[in-house]
Amino acid sequence: MSINTIPIADNHRLSLPTIDMPPRILLGAGPSNSHPRVFAAMIAPTVGHLDPTFIRVMDEVSELLRYAWQTDNEFTIATSGTGSSAMEAAFANVVEPGDRVLVGVNGYFGRRMVDMAGRYGADVRCLEVTWGEAFTLEAIRQGMETHRPQVLALVHAETSTGVRQPLDGLSELCREHDCLLLVDTVTSLGGVPLHVDAWGLDIAYSGSQKCLSAPSGVAPITFGPRALTKIHNRRTPIANWYMNAELLGKYWAGSPRAYHHTAPMHLFYALREGLRLVAEEGLAERWARHQATAEAFWAGLEELGLTPHVPREIRLPSLTTVRVPEGVDAAAVSRRLLTEYNIEIAGGLGDLAGKVWRVGLMGYNARRETVAVLLRALAEVL
Ligand SMILES: Cc1ncc(COP(=O)(O)O)c(C=O)c1O
Repeated sequence: MSINTIPIADNHRLSLPTIDMPPRILLGAGPSNSHPRVFAAMIAPTVGHLDPTFIRVMDEVSELLRYAWQTDNEFTIATSGTGSSAMEAAFANVVEPGDRVLVGVNGYFGRRMVDMAGRYGADVRCLEVTWGEAFTLEAIRQGMETHRPQVLALVHAETSTGVRQPLDGLSELCREHDCLLLVDTVTSLGGVPLHVDAWGLDIAYSGSQKCLSAPSGVAPITFGPRALTKIHNRRTPIANWYMNAELLGKYWAGSPRAYHHTAPMHLFYALREGLRLVAEEGLAERWARHQATAEAFWAGLEELGLTPHVPREIRLPSLTTVRVPEGVDAAAVSRRLLTEYNIEIAGGLGDLAGKVWRVGLMGYNARRETVAVLLRALAEVL
């Protein structure tokens, strides 16, 4: 039988209706709902990944990210992938085999950092506190003195616990120890006060699907001058092709721009619009909106007799962990919110599984009316 005479196996042909997804209100740990303008931007035409008009979009994304992060870092781009791809880019580029990396582990994403740093050959050391607490500057100082790391890695906004890690004083400490400061800002960028340059962060990365109100799939990352010096003077090659900063740099800033991979341009249109919304609103106003919305939610929780898990001083506005009252089935409540009210909230992760709900009020969803809808539904379900 020649290749042209093989019969078509028609039993494999599927007939399905058009896709019909429910209009969820996404108040979990992310993704959050995209802003309608972001979706509108995504229907712009496809162009080539080296088309001058797309190169302009990339440049604009970099410029808007510099504003959102408050940095002058030239190397400020978005990787084609989710937040974890930017986390991977951070560790792959600045960690060499044998480098000592000190990771602050007070939640699930600190653990992921330990895993990633280890995969790049780091001698990983951990600082640990109970999930729901932050590290004090003094504890970090002691850790630095004991371990003498080349990289200190912390999660600014731990989505698994709702803790905001204070970063003041770390820039000086890291410079004293000739150590790079690497910070996960996935759940803080665009929603929680964050100043990459003023706080001396050498590497920061984020995601698109949280406070930036875009779909997941592109992930911002910025490398400061000290990080770039380390990258350019490595003894060993970067053990990751896709997230290699030198190759990505030629696509984002080379002259001429060099093909690296086929960027998912529609996701870049989305990120650009999400970031344009940040710039239009203004960072200070946006941070204040997230804070005010979270406070309205916390006040409503109190009226329902519910308690946030994290003390107010280190509580994130973008993600609140709420203690599950004695005798209440946490999963059953989440399930009813989803099936009866179309509202997604998240359950606890890791050490907090079954003990808390996680409620995200991020980006487009950080609004009073969203809080009101959630509180009413919670009151009815409980
Ligand atoms: C703090 C933090 N870091 C990293 C990630 C990983 O991002 P992604 O799931 O987009 O890969 C997340 C995702 O929720 C996160 O919350």
